[in-house]
Amino acid sequence: MQVLEEIKKRGKMVDEAIEKLLPIIQPEELYKASRYLLDAGGKRIRPAMLIIAAESVGGDIQKVLPAAVAIELIHNFTLIHDDIMDQDELRRGHPTVHLKWGLPAAILAGNTLYSKAFEIIAQIDAPPKIISRCICILSKTCADICEGQWMDMEFEKRGSVSENEYMDMVQKKTSVLFATSAMIGGLLGGATNKIAKSLWEAEIKIGVGFQIRDDVLDLIIPEVKIGKRRGNDLMEKKKTLIIIHALKNSNKLYSLSRKASREEIDAAVQQLRDLGSIDYAMDKAVELVEQGKSKLDVLPDSRPKELLMELADYMVTRTY
Ligand code: IPE
Ligand code: IPE
Ligand code: MG
Ligand code: MG
Ligand code: MG
Repeated sequence: MQVLEEIKKRGKMVDEAIEKLLPIIQPEELYKASRYLLDAGGKRIRPAMLIIAAESVGGDIQKVLPAAVAIELIHNFTLIHDDIMDQDELRRGHPTVHLKWGLPAAILAGNTLYSKAFEIIAQIDAPPKIISRCICILSKTCADICEGQWMDMEFEKRGSVSENEYMDMVQKKTSVLFATSAMIGGLLGGATNKIAKSLWEAEIKIGVGFQIRDDVLDLIIPEVKIGKRRGNDLMEKKKTLIIIHALKNSNKLYSLSRKASREEIDAAVQQLRDLGSIDYAMDKAVELVEQGKSKLDVLPDSRPKELLMELADYMVTRTY
């Protein structure tokens, strides 16, 4: 797929900029723990989206590169803390930060990335008004992510959750960071308010599709391929769209303990397949992506615009 190559190209630029903007300083172990997950890889979809959004309005890649780094730092901060919340032990094919360094170090590593992201954005070469707007958007987004993550955690304890509640939760924990990436890229690239708003609205929809796909991948992709443990959402009793659909159509779903075997996970996934819950969720994800793409119509026709469209499709067809 062409768009994958384009993401990788921009991801490489981001990696080089990370080396410069987040060097390992003293105390060395703190910065090592902070860089560890960044250096473990990741698809770099968010920073690539930010760069492509800037390109789509005629912006300069080098100028927006620090903002792309900041977004990836924020993303990695949320992942380090998310793995603590979700009791995950594997991320990007490596032991999670809290498993390797312990809980206090993982909290600090996350906080370090969070803080550095704002320091980097504040120093971007752009009009102060635009910088302050970007900082405002990003800080609100971080609070939204906390709200979404809180809801996600709270839903684990509930017997049922509505589809609307799920959509609201996912928009907050996942979509807003995509929407912020596209909007900040647009604003720094010189977008009009109208276009910046459309970029935001598009990625809010597409971002929900992305999370639904993530929920599906959690069930079907082996850990050697995706770098995360399969079935973790089932063990954590996450109320994904798949589970919400299944709960409506069966009153006896498999319940998995944290020690569930591969066979037990397989049986639980087969049940969800048989109930049509996985197909149901994927149909919804594709529908949301189509709605999101239609918001991108306002962009002038160009290769970057096409890439944003292809990226939207990739977000729900990806296999890792
Ligand atoms: C994982 O995001 C976290 C979610 C919001 C589902 P990605 O799938 O983009 O993770 P990396 O960055 O490629 O590891
Ligand atoms: C992650 O959702 C959302 C954030 C990191 C804010 P998940 O918990 O589904 O992400 P993975 O599956 O662990 O990557
Ligand atoms: Mg989570
Ligand atoms: Mg998780
Ligand atoms: Mg997940």
